[in-house]
Amino acid sequence: MRPLIAGNWKMHGLNADLHEIDSIAALAARTQPHVDILICPPASLLAAAARIAADRIAVGGQDCSPEASGAHTGDISAEMLKDAGAGAVIVGHSERRQHHGETDALVFSKALAARRAGLLAVICVGETQEQHASGAALSICGDQIVASVPLGMRAFGLAIGYEPLWAIGSGQMPTSQEIVQMHAHIRRRLVEHLGAEGKNVRILYGGSVKPSNARAILALPEVGGALVGGASLKSAEFAAILACAPQEGATIAAE
Ligand code: 13P
Repeated sequence: MRPLIAGNWKMHGLNADLHEIDSIAALAARTQPHVDILICPPASLLAAAARIAADRIAVGGQDCSPEASGAHTGDISAEMLKDAGAGAVIVGHSERRQHHGETDALVFSKALAARRAGLLAVICVGETQEQHASGAALSICGDQIVASVPLGMRAFGLAIGYEPLWAIGSGQMPTSQEIVQMHAHIRRRLVEHLGAEGKNVRILYGGSVKPSNARAILALPEVGGALVGGASLKSAEFAAILACAPQEGATIAAE
């Protein structure tokens, strides 16, 4: 399984920052042929980012509407993202679930929209600090998987982002053991839900991934890549994370 390292720029980035995408793409083409690289800039930069990336790396959206078109002021469809040059879209990020009240059912419909448009859907799940402290993380995330991932999703069209909410932007991290346990659990739920196809879905870890911890995280069983926020904004920092990705086949299967 090729690792996927995805950068989520969130609501950061102006035209003046597009050179970071060119730097990452140039470096990726030279040094990282074994890694799939995705940058998700704000929608305002997507078309320009796609032109600059010029297929050296993929670019993606951070959210999409379930609908293909219509009277939905302010929304962007998966088809529009595709038209702007996107190859992927993040759906169900915890910031959307928390700040925009997105439910599993809505995330499910957005994942279907991604599939309809031919985009890789990066479906995010994760538990809150309280859920983590109460020992409910595995069941919460397992339930989110079953309710957010449409049946029939193919491995090539799907990645899961496991992002514990309390680890996002906080510098806090689950232990390696907790990450291994969670990713193995997500794998089991994916296989129950999608059958054999679930074996090949990449499960990305996200939450305070930095150059200093990326190598250890990316070497863990069932960690198929990373979803990086803050550390994806500057090409030098993101490049240092890319350099930590194991060669294909280097991770050990958990089951
Ligand atoms: P940070 O890497 O800034 O913690 O953000 C993680 C994230 O939410 C990526 O989607």
